[in-house]
Amino acid sequence: MTILDTDFHCHILPGIDDGAKNTDESIRLIEMQLSQGIRHIVATPHYRMHELGVREFLKRRADAFQKLQSAAAGSLPDIMLAAEIALEHNLCELEGIEKLANERLNTLLIELPYSGYRKWMSEEIEEIGYRTGMQIIIAHLDRYIDIFSAEDYSDILGIPEAIFQFNASTFERWKTKRLIKPLMKDDYPIIFGTDCHNTTTRKPDFTLLAKPLKGYEPEERVSRLLQP
Ligand SMILES: [Fe+2]
Repeated sequence: MTILDTDFHCHILPGIDDGAKNTDESIRLIEMQLSQGIRHIVATPHYRMHELGVREFLKRRADAFQKLQSAAAGSLPDIMLAAEIALEHNLCELEGIEKLANERLNTLLIELPYSGYRKWMSEEIEEIGYRTGMQIIIAHLDRYIDIFSAEDYSDILGIPEAIFQFNASTFERWKTKRLIKPLMKDDYPIIFGTDCHNTTTRKPDFTLLAKPLKGYEPEERVSRLLQP
């Protein structure tokens, strides 16, 4: 696995969230990912603690993956099952939260709320990492560019041991490029994802990474993650 052939965040499983609606769409999305050089896919359907228990979510996810496997008839690339977990108060107390981890990499992908940053968010994330002993990945930091201040970002970037995931579309906007460039230069642990949901408005766009990541060496924690 490399930083340029692994999509760490996407919604390709059929009919489980607001991503791929059915197996046809899943397969089209995967074909697009493959054509963009992606060889390892982390499927991260949304999980919201107040909507669903962990066990029910895992069952739905297994069913969706099973459907995809049947429809693809043996032609799927490497797919790891995980979740994009919405951050809420007391998420650290969720029974079975560790079962939402990437089954192979032992990582938990956490999505911050879009309501503006509050101090409890970093504290809750830190507590989740501490209690589960798992590697925390914070989802698409670029998506908060219009609501988080520089201080908010520096608080989040200060969460110990976390890895920061950016969407490939970070490199489409000057504001998000201005956010990530110093982090790359300062050797922050950064990984990427397409966060693709469909083949039209939110499609895979991994080719955006080729130029900005030319010659880029992943940080040590990320290198370890890439060699499980
Ligand atoms: Fe997502």
